Amino acid sequence: MPRQLFVTTALPYANGHFHIGHIMEYIQADIWVRFQRMQGHQVHFVGADDAHGAPIMIAAEKAGKTPQAFVADIAAGRKPYLDGFHIAFDNWHSTDGPENHQLAQDTYRALRKNGLIFTREIEQFFDPVKAMFLPDRYIKGECPKCGAKDQYGDSCEVCGAVYAPTELKHPYSTLTGATPVMKTSEHHFFQLSSPRCIEFLEGWTHGSAPISQQPRLQPEVLNKIKEWFTTDEQGHGGLADWDISRDAPYFGIEIPDAPGKYFYVWLDAPIGYLASLKNYFDKQGLDFEAFMADPKTEQVHFIGKDITYFHTLFWPAMLHFSGRRTPDHIFVHGFITVSGEKMSKSRGTGISPLRYLEIGMNAEWLRYYIAAKLNGKVEDVDFNPDDFVARVNSDLVGKYINIASRAAGFLTKRFDGRLTAELPAESRTLLEGLQAARDDIARLYEEREYAKALRETMALADRVNEYVDAHKPWELAKQAGQDARLQQVCSTCIEAFRLLTIYLKPVLPALAAQIEGFLKIEPLRFADAGRLLGAQTIGEYKHLMQRVDAKLLDALFEPPAEPSPQSSPAAAADGAKPGGEALAPTITIDDFTKIDLRLAKIVDAALVEGSTKLLRLTLDVGEGRHRTVFSGIQSAFKPADVIGKFTVVVANLAPRKMKFGLSEGMVLAASHTDDKTHPGLYLLEPTPGAVPGLRVR
Ligand code: MSP
Ligand code: ZN
Repeated sequence: MPRQLFVTTALPYANGHFHIGHIMEYIQADIWVRFQRMQGHQVHFVGADDAHGAPIMIAAEKAGKTPQAFVADIAAGRKPYLDGFHIAFDNWHSTDGPENHQLAQDTYRALRKNGLIFTREIEQFFDPVKAMFLPDRYIKGECPKCGAKDQYGDSCEVCGAVYAPTELKHPYSTLTGATPVMKTSEHHFFQLSSPRCIEFLEGWTHGSAPISQQPRLQPEVLNKIKEWFTTDEQGHGGLADWDISRDAPYFGIEIPDAPGKYFYVWLDAPIGYLASLKNYFDKQGLDFEAFMADPKTEQVHFIGKDITYFHTLFWPAMLHFSGRRTPDHIFVHGFITVSGEKMSKSRGTGISPLRYLEIGMNAEWLRYYIAAKLNGKVEDVDFNPDDFVARVNSDLVGKYINIASRAAGFLTKRFDGRLTAELPAESRTLLEGLQAARDDIARLYEEREYAKALRETMALADRVNEYVDAHKPWELAKQAGQDARLQQVCSTCIEAFRLLTIYLKPVLPALAAQIEGFLKIEPLRFADAGRLLGAQTIGEYKHLMQRVDAKLLDALFEPPAEPSPQSSPAAAADGAKPGGEALAPTITIDDFTKIDLRLAKIVDAALVEGSTKLLRLTLDVGEGRHRTVFSGIQSAFKPADVIGKFTVVVANLAPRKMKFGLSEGMVLAASHTDDKTHPGLYLLEPTPGAVPGLRVR
């Protein structure tokens, strides 16, 4: 019986392009979807942009766009990534689409009718200049414990204290600098703490999916959830009611019968899964409600570990109590790190997925590499450049592709591409061994144990390579009277190569399509491992896949070219090169005094959207106004590292118009000319007691 699956990945916030974490999630889900399709199952695989929320509204305003135009621009950039990495979504939509407005409001009405919505007044910080309630992340102030300045509303980066935003001393709005005031407002809540919600969720989270008969959640996820359910002796902890409303101005969906109130983004975001499917079904002339009501339908969400709470508690409760089916499975994955380093939320990692494609790296190398590290647990996956080169070159190309390249030429040249069906016992045994692995490998894909599936497949490839080494077709080709033998050996290789291709196809779809063309066969499915090609004619072998050149990885990690500081050719050619460069030509004191260096206080610092190198610094140079300077120090400093520090600025440098705005000066920092072999960037700082504006002479 073919399964009927509805599969999604998490909906990415529409305030930035995809980073490698998104691509990893899509690769994981795409492999699973392709595997299901190869089993003959029907899959609807959809995604969408998560368009709403305060950060997107604020980012749009900064960019001088309406939020709608802002998210549309991001959406317009999605295709090259998805196509480039062969992610086969059937549909890509937006949570700001009409379907989601309708579905979110309907869901809310159903929950209200069910008695699970209540309202309560809450007190919150309000920015009087922007006339807007402030989410915690937009409030800073002095730490109530240690007095450190410019600390966020939840915890102090200096002393580590944890507190509520209302405890900050001298709080200010990071949007306007204004002192926030406390203001009350009525909020809408979803009563997650009600006994019937808790009872339902206890059962649901521990339950199995009706069709797959497998536990809905991974054991590690279930353990985490148990912590969330637990209440201590004082009655703290346990499931709390969920604040689902936000006051205008907010980019979101209006709450019915509550003017000026919007759904909190996390209420409408998962409903966006349904909205994207509905949008797709409407376009296809299919019946969305009938599909969702069909007991044969299975609903599966792939997500990262950071959004487990939303998907395993809020989402099933919302669905259940609004009268809808609940998900069959939430498959949670860990995070991707790069050379062991965590990725920053705003900057992503050193790997830009688009750059990966632009410099000509093969998307299927990455799919293979990530798959070779993924399992069904919530474990992080590390991208390690050396390991990447080794796995792709030795496994993928060395073990698998080589089987075809070693055999196909002889078949074309000597036998017009004809395979023989008359294989000796030894060949049959080898091929039967490969065929017998099918169900095991299929089970591993089903369980998202991709690393094991690939390991098992590569062990089969090892056997085939041993066979090739034992029979040496290149020697048979030179010997007289060995034609039949040569054809048998090469046919065995091609048969084996086809079987391995079946097992690798979920991971390597474009390569598999190319191979299907070469072998002149229909698109491969898992069932096709049950038979062999037999006496068939194949096409001419064309080179299938390149090895990775390690230089490509250097290019991948290289920051995009920017004019580098010129090293001086003037000073003695063979002289010492302190810091990697010879000294610049001699100047007079008059030359030096042309440069006006001043002490500056860094009063604020922020990441620059769209730049992985720059920080936007706000400087006090004692002029009674602030200057903005863009400085290429992001590799070494987080904004919080430099706020409050003094440094030296070239104060009479001609202002420079940059992509991100006007830069009025340059701050001084030291580094080696070759920052790859000698990493490190050191900001100049005066001794204590300095004040802004003092001249450096
Ligand atoms: N908009 C929400 C999800 C709403 S779902 C109804 C969101 N967006 S996100 O863009 O921040 O993240 C999208 C997905 O990417 C999430 O599943 C998240 O876990 C995943 N990842 C973000 N960083 C990641 C890594 N470093 N590694 C792997 N996945 C990561 O959350
Ligand atoms: Zn502190």
